Amino acid sequence: MSVSVFSDLDALSHAAADFFVERAAETIAKDGRFAVALAGGNTPKKLYELLASDAYRAKVDWENVWVFWGDERWVPPSDPASNEGMARAALLSRVPIPWAQIFPMYQPGLTPEQAAERYEKKLYEVLGLKCNIDLVLVGMGDDGHTLSLFPGIPELHESRKWVVPTMSPKGVPQRISMTIPAMVHARTVLFLVAGADKADQLAKALGDDDSVRPPSGIVAKQSVWTRWFVDEAAAAQLPANLSAGG
Ligand code: 6PG
Repeated sequence: MSVSVFSDLDALSHAAADFFVERAAETIAKDGRFAVALAGGNTPKKLYELLASDAYRAKVDWENVWVFWGDERWVPPSDPASNEGMARAALLSRVPIPWAQIFPMYQPGLTPEQAAERYEKKLYEVLGLKCNIDLVLVGMGDDGHTLSLFPGIPELHESRKWVVPTMSPKGVPQRISMTIPAMVHARTVLFLVAGADKADQLAKALGDDDSVRPPSGIVAKQSVWTRWFVDEAAAAQLPANLSAGG
């Protein structure tokens, strides 16, 4: 696990865009495809806009990118709270990814349970029995949640299913979310965390005390290749050895 600290969200987003470009090029050269699971919330929006910008768009072979989501609020993409809607507006509508390679979680006409089962089948179909996602982008809430795995919920300890319905204590209550089993074999899980309101939970996520470790820290410990891109405000409570710099 490695932690990179950047001056602010803009610098963090540029570094994440460079990381995305580099990993996509390496993976497509080796495997012919780059499978990414997008994060929701506000933090990744700047990254998505950068990837769609003139400075970055031509650096990615979008025809060979396959897009999933790590979690979704149970609302249609037209809803301002939709993770899919945000990603389509900021990135997916502006780059040439074949529509058949974009896999939204929200499915009208299905229950969250049915959609979770169907999503898991799709992951298995496309990525195989170990769910080897090449890059999972995730954020962290100010309560330490990640994906839609919130503190204290039983789904945090799901040991078999890759996608489950969950309930959120804030915002849109009904969610569906990838689980720790889906993260374990990801080639890289990249946390994007910015803002002073995340400092307390980030310190607990990266600290040594398992008794206070939030879901983000639990997911990170279970994932083989985890990287944290954080800004100085979120890193304010990290020990010196972790907050060394980008
Ligand atoms: C969601 C996200 C969630 C997000 C955190 C941080 O659906 O809400 O997937 O896990 O990453 O809540 O959100 P911000 O980036 O808006 O702080």
